Parts: sequence; C-alpha cells; structure tokens
Amino acid sequence: MSGDVPPNPLAAGSDAVRQAPPGILVVVGASGDLTARKLLPAIEQLSRRRLLPRSFAVVGVARTELDDDGFRKLMTDSVPHAGAGWAELVKRSRYVTGEYGDPSTFQTLGKVLGEVEADIASTGNRTFYLATIPAVFELVADGLGAAGLNRPANEQSAVRLVIEKPFGRDLDSATELDAALHRNFDEAQIYRIDHYLGKETVQNVLALRFANAIFEPLWNRSFIDHVQITVAESLGVEKRGGFYETAGALRDIVQNHVMQVLSLTLMEPPGTIDAQGIRDEKVKALRSVVIPTLESVKTDVVRGQYDSGWSEGVAVQAYRQEPDVDPNSRTETFVAMKLMCDNWRWAGVPIYVRTGKRLPKRVTEVALQFHRVPHLAFGTAESQGLRPNALVLRIQPDEGVALRFGAKVPGQAFNVRDVLMDMSYGSAFMEDAPDAYERLLLDAMVGDPTLFIRSDEVDQAWRIVDPILEAWQGRAVPLSGYAAGTWGPRQAEQLIERDGRQWRKP
Ligand code: BG6
Repeated sequence: MSGDVPPNPLAAGSDAVRQAPPGILVVVGASGDLTARKLLPAIEQLSRRRLLPRSFAVVGVARTELDDDGFRKLMTDSVPHAGAGWAELVKRSRYVTGEYGDPSTFQTLGKVLGEVEADIASTGNRTFYLATIPAVFELVADGLGAAGLNRPANEQSAVRLVIEKPFGRDLDSATELDAALHRNFDEAQIYRIDHYLGKETVQNVLALRFANAIFEPLWNRSFIDHVQITVAESLGVEKRGGFYETAGALRDIVQNHVMQVLSLTLMEPPGTIDAQGIRDEKVKALRSVVIPTLESVKTDVVRGQYDSGWSEGVAVQAYRQEPDVDPNSRTETFVAMKLMCDNWRWAGVPIYVRTGKRLPKRVTEVALQFHRVPHLAFGTAESQGLRPNALVLRIQPDEGVALRFGAKVPGQAFNVRDVLMDMSYGSAFMEDAPDAYERLLLDAMVGDPTLFIRSDEVDQAWRIVDPILEAWQGRAVPLSGYAAGTWGPRQAEQLIERDGRQWRKP
C-alpha cells in the first residue's frame, strides 16, 4: 500500500509536504453529533488551509434517512463561516442511508465510492472514519469486509479504518474488539484516535524532552521527587448522562487521555521519532507501571462523585440529578490515584493523577516537582514560602511551560521567594495551532500512525485500569461525595498528604 511509508510528521519542517493524497473520507455515523461538531469543521479547516487536494470527497453513511442534498445541507449548516472552497467540496459529497447490519448498505456504499472516484479521478485511497456508537464498530467492520471494501483496489492506494474510543470496557472486551477488527483489517490499517494526542501541547512533551539538552538529564528519580498529572474540567456531564453512566471518569479519561500523557512523560528517548520508535517506548513505559491490587486500590485510589455546589458563580446540581443519570448512581465523576513505575528511571517516584468533572476550573497539566535542596542555608524567615523547583507543562488552556525556582527578593535583606519562568504558546508563536481533529484526520489520510494508539498500548492501559474497576465492583472502596466547584473529596487530599506532599492548585 502506498500509505505504508508516510512522511514523518514530527520531523522538522515537514509541514510543507503534508497534504492529503487524492481520495475519499467515508464518515460512518455521518448524521451524528461527532460529525457535525468535530469532523466537518476539521475537514473544512483542512480545506481552508489547502491541505486537501481537488480530487477529494466526503461520503457519509448513517441510518438516518437523508439524500445527497440532505447531507450537503448538514455539511453546510455544520460550518457556518466556511471558507471559499467548502461549497465545492460539499457539492462533491454523497450520502448512503442504511442499517449497519444489512449487507446492501455496504454494497451501495461500494457503488457510490466507485462513482465518486470516477468523478474526482482518485486512484482509490479510502479512509473509513467510524463516528458511530462503539456497539456497532464490529458490525461496520464486518460489513465493510463482506463488501470487499477493507482492501485497496490497487497497489497505489490505501484503505484505512479510524475508530474512536472507547476501545472496549476492559481488557477482555478490548481484546475481543481487536480480534473482530483484525478479521477484516490489518493492524497497520487501524487508526485508534485519542484526541489528546492531536493537541500541540501533548506533542510538545516530546519536543521539550528530546529536543533540549537541559531537561532530559534531570528527568529521573535522582532529581524528581514526584509527578502530578491533572485533567480537570469545570463542566458537569452536560447532556451525556446516559453515556457517562456506562463509563465514569476512569474509563472516560484515565484509561485513554491520562495514560497517553503519562506514557509520553515516562517513556525513554526513542531511537527515532516515528510511529514505531515512539509507540514502542510508550508501551514499554506502560508495562513498567505497577499494576494496582485490591489492597492497593483501597489506599492509593480515590473515587468521587459531585454533589450540588457552585461552578463559576452559578449554582449547579448534583451528578445524581443530571438528566439520564440514575438517582442512586455509583458512577465516579472524579478519580485520584497514586501510581508507581518500576524501572531504572522512575523507581520510588510517585505519580499522582487526578481527574474529574465539576472541579474549580478546566485545566490539564503535567507537573514534575524536583527534590528539595539538600541543605537550605538561608534562615527560615528569609526562605519562607520557598517551594521545591517544579517544571509544569500546561497542556490546556493557556498552553505553555513554566519553571518555578527561587530568586532573591530585591532589597537590603536576603529574602528568597518563588518565581516563574513562563513560556506561553500564545506569545511565543504567531502560528495558530490546528485543532486536534484536524491534525489527526490529516495524519490518518496521509497514513501516519504516530499519533494513534496501537493495539498493545490499549491493552497495557487496560491492564492498569482493570484491577481498579474490579476492586470497585464491591463496596470495599467507598465512593466519596464532593461539592461541585471543589478539588474533589477530602480523601484525595489525604492520599497525597499522607506522603508529605500536596496537590498543586493550578
Ligand atoms: C472526552 C471525554 O474524551 O474528553 C469527555 O469523553 C471530556 O468527557 C473530553 O469532556 C475532554 O476533552 P478536552 O479536549 O476538552 O480536554
């Protein structure tokens, strides 16, 4: 397949050559929320930035009855301030209505793809994006396979399958899903999306670590006291109560987004910055994370659920009062935990993770706190409030990197205080960052899997999360309430304070 040796997107200066090849993006689940909210705006941005060729088209497939014009209207309505090229692209788009379990849906799709390819003079690159509910992933993959749409028509083209999380509900179901996908698609054809990997600041973890001489020598147990990863949201579950009831914070955020950020933070330097080099090292890092046990879950993992409270000055209701949520729900909206990574680099360095909805603000960051100096020669009064050095990678919002260190306060006395050396993306660069979906869609169409999750990464992440889910099935681990607008239950503070440390207040 021509897409098997893609240009390396993380190599310096590769932007100029990264244009999608001629082909079709097939969105399965095209009438759904993800398509309208994320995919169509991302495609429009790619078109506006001239990263899509003229011989490119979108074909939608879904159960909702629509004709081509209905889908074109949906495309137009989803991008209210579209650039000049959008109307042209919309005109070339087609739509297929059908049930995913009905073979004729995929036969019709095959016919339509042939017509569009003749129309746009494409050689046959096809990217199938499964924007459906996970329950039909298998059905769709089988349908594509049965209609022969899983393989490229010729040597010059590639067929790829993009899927969204959740990748299973636990290790067993993730393995089953993979087996089902692999019935029709090779692993090299499967692109598992985690939109955190499309964020510039997440990719910057690699740049910061491996493009600088000053950080990496300190990036280990000899210098780092502990790591804190925070993925905080101020929003509640909004209208997604029904979905969230089946997920909870551990499955929704920890198994994927947190594990991705964690593996990039902990991994060893790869020999090459490419799909295999990076993903091999990420998997190795996840393998070194100590698997929780029933006993350690009791002490090292806290689960919480928000009660009513205040969010940005507005009174908000408890999780159990949200639409489509069971009034006696035991689903967690908050998780805090302490992980350890048993390898040469990280032995003995705790990694504290917390994530939750209805926390005081929306902030995602990775903070590495360094050891205290071995001997503080200043008097207590002079160095009051001086904290250990910290390097903070602000993933979002206010993207940037900050280093905290002590400095002399100007004046006759010799007082020392914390100061911040702060790099902000907004002021350091003129370029605006592409949206995560824009970046990842282009990567999938170009055929670069570097920022997608390989099947063994999914497995390793479940290996860490599964025992926690299991321990939570009984009542041995309490579910603690926290007022909306606070940093989670008191038990989360105790988890870290027990070790003589404190959560950061981002
Ligand atoms: C999604 C979760 O994967 O990530 C949502 O399903 C969550 O519950 C979202 O709100 C957070 O993404 P971001 O990019 O806003 O941090």
